[in-house]
Amino acid sequence: MSRSAHPAGPRHADVLPEGHYSAPPADLNALDGKVWAQTVTRDAHGVVTVGGIPVTRLAEEFGTPAYLLDEADFRARARAWRTAFGHDADVFYAGKAFLSRAVVRWLHEEGLNLDVCSGGELATALSAGMPADRIAFHGNNKSKDEIRRAIEAGVGRIVLDSFQEIVRVAHIAQELGKRQRVQIRVTVGVEAHTHEFIATAHEDQKFGIPLAGGQAAEAVRRALRLDGIELIGIHSHIGSQIFDMSGFEVAAHRVVGLLKDIRDEHGVELPEIDLGGGLGIAYTSDDDPREPHEIAKALTEIVTRECEAARLRTPRISVEPGRAIVGPTAFTLYEVGTIKPLDGLRTYVSVDGGMSDNIRTALYDAEYSVALVSRSSDAEPMLARVVGKHCESGDIVVKDAFLPADLAPGDLIAVPATGAYCRSMASNYNHVTRPPVVAVRDGEARVIVRRETEEDLLRLDVG
Ligand SMILES: Cc1ncc(COP(=O)(O)O)c(C=O)c1O
Repeated sequence: MSRSAHPAGPRHADVLPEGHYSAPPADLNALDGKVWAQTVTRDAHGVVTVGGIPVTRLAEEFGTPAYLLDEADFRARARAWRTAFGHDADVFYAGKAFLSRAVVRWLHEEGLNLDVCSGGELATALSAGMPADRIAFHGNNKSKDEIRRAIEAGVGRIVLDSFQEIVRVAHIAQELGKRQRVQIRVTVGVEAHTHEFIATAHEDQKFGIPLAGGQAAEAVRRALRLDGIELIGIHSHIGSQIFDMSGFEVAAHRVVGLLKDIRDEHGVELPEIDLGGGLGIAYTSDDDPREPHEIAKALTEIVTRECEAARLRTPRISVEPGRAIVGPTAFTLYEVGTIKPLDGLRTYVSVDGGMSDNIRTALYDAEYSVALVSRSSDAEPMLARVVGKHCESGDIVVKDAFLPADLAPGDLIAVPATGAYCRSMASNYNHVTRPPVVAVRDGEARVIVRRETEEDLLRLDVG
């Protein structure tokens, strides 16, 4: 691995172009525990280790790019959510964030339930032994075949997302001689992202049935009439990467309002309320996520207070964190290929992956941090943009971050907090094969999703 310096790019705050970054960190070798998985540390040689294994060894054994997942951290976070909500509530891990059979087994062992939103996720969950009654099936356009498979398998609940689906699920359940437990997903007129929420008309989206205009109340009316389904509750999911609980407060107020209307109109008190997922994690040191026990306390208090005010029995609460469990537990390891300093702008650092293994930056303008992990460095900070190898100028992994100015081809760098919505949204753009997911624990590493090969790609291309 070369250690030679290259022509330095812009380095000092007084020459920095506009961007999203803060000032360079005091110590580029420091690893902020907020954004890195729990067992990540730098050893005496300056090499970063995870689960006790140096990343240089992991790169040799598994290649780069690779997602390295800290199993102990995953289990600890899953357990923290389970413990925080206790026995009177349910935690459904949102499989869309990242799902594999190993993850399903860990969730099962740690006592969590699982949300799936496609036949593929359902098949993965069932094949890894998740009991069907601990699975919730979501989606705004489930196929009849997916609905049939879910009901046949005996999933604990199907979350209904449209008027058509209410009838469709009821009919299929009846055909199968079953009564399927369902929730109705409503849109409460709240959209929450990061530190803001907007309590206006955010019904303008494909998910759920609006409370506004009485549509959700009508959906409940229809669902209560059908024999094939048993309506057990109301579901609401208000956004993603949320730090501010006030959006949940408005959502809970409105959902409990609907529960009260249902009680008044039908004499039925629905036993469950699902407040969805969307809890934020730290992608950079600027983010300050809340702990699961704080979230559990806040949500339980909100729902209890609202129900007391409406003179309703407090329903069983469920939540669906995905990102908050898996997000911080993994990082993506890349090898630096080329380095291009652009005078007065920034230095472009190209890695051996890109938007095919992390689409979030291009798709959501997401912020990430990055660190040199194969060695430490005392060089000055250099403003860098980490880009991939794809034929697309928007192929950016980390928009603006500081790396040491002596960064060189062959160095390994890592982007933390890539456990959620990176492998699960990965693509084969440019026929680049998708990286493996390697779980590391107590000095042992094992592949839980293997690297794709060019043979895999050619096998699908039937010529
Ligand atoms: C219904 C529902 N539940 C849970 C989640 C998980 O969200 P997060 O991973 O941000 O916690 C999502 C994400 O889109 C969702 O749509």
